[in-house]
Amino acid sequence: MDSQELKKLRDWFSKNAAALPWRSLDLNAMRDPYAVWISETMLQQTQVSTVRNYFVRWMKRFPDIETLAAASEEEVFKYWQGLGYYSRARNILKTAQAIGDTLPSTRKELEVLPGIGAYTAGAILSLAYHKPEAILDGNLVRIFSRFHSLDFLPTENTQAAETYWNYAKDVANSPKAYMHNEALMELGRTVCKIKNPDCNKCPLQNKCKAFTAGTIAQFPPPKKRIQKDWYGTVLIVESKDHKILVIHGGQKFFSNQFALPHFETVKSAPAGIPAAAENLINADQVSAVQTVGQIKHNITVHKISCNVLHVVMQTTAKKTQVTHDDFQWIEKAKTPQVLANSFSLKALEKISTS
Ligand code: ADE
Repeated sequence: MDSQELKKLRDWFSKNAAALPWRSLDLNAMRDPYAVWISETMLQQTQVSTVRNYFVRWMKRFPDIETLAAASEEEVFKYWQGLGYYSRARNILKTAQAIGDTLPSTRKELEVLPGIGAYTAGAILSLAYHKPEAILDGNLVRIFSRFHSLDFLPTENTQAAETYWNYAKDVANSPKAYMHNEALMELGRTVCKIKNPDCNKCPLQNKCKAFTAGTIAQFPPPKKRIQKDWYGTVLIVESKDHKILVIHGGQKFFSNQFALPHFETVKSAPAGIPAAAENLINADQVSAVQTVGQIKHNITVHKISCNVLHVVMQTTAKKTQVTHDDFQWIEKAKTPQVLANSFSLKALEKISTS
């Protein structure tokens, strides 16, 4: 964004800045770093309309860092209740206790404090101390993606992040960084919105690449789902009288339902009963082990690849040393009702076809 755009942006903000409790009427005034820290932390995952009252209530009870540092975590949580993501409140208290009275004024010192990352540090340095420091939040990402027609997101890789941060640094490379940063957040929130942006109200319209190309709807690009590979072994443990061992809860992917026992292994591990399974079955009661196939299955971001082992037990005895919370032997015929997840059913199919 060149100086002309930035001037338009400032003019727009001067006319359109909403009156918010953490802003002074004079948009050029320096602000209390503590108030910036609290409001911007609250605003990270919560909407402006919700944060308003929480911020006012918080500042009445904890007007400065010293007051906050002396408060109990329980009370701090009470003032955070409803904002969610309690780790933010916990970190705020930890940081208050660590610093005692004032927030440092360099990025390096700020970013080592609990809960203060690149965004919050940039916000404190620019909005409170009026330093030429950059910020990058979802609003700025959306604006830069549209304005510069960037068809990738900063979360995709380090180079992508650098590209976005460089645009953010350009904008902040000015004695008016405090205003550029906040004006962009306001523009993103009220004009360059996720859905139905009001391009006709935008001071940056003329130079916005996506607007001039008529491709606003394509920017920013949708988030790419990051797939995580998970390799493991599923066990179909069958007793002599054709019952199948199932586990309720406590397992990876199935914290609260019945599933076949499964264990994480390294990629291309030799097929065999994983050592961890020995908590579950008596190795000396196993009469046969056979690899009956592989399954692939996706759960949310997890791309699961498993060997399926059919483990036949010599005895019909209920397993003796099981430490697992809830395991049961169930009739083979009842497995489809009990195992209501396709991961387990897919694995079971391997013995009906093998
Ligand atoms: N979102 C997060 N911080 C903001 C701010 N200071 N102004 C407008 N929107 C914001």
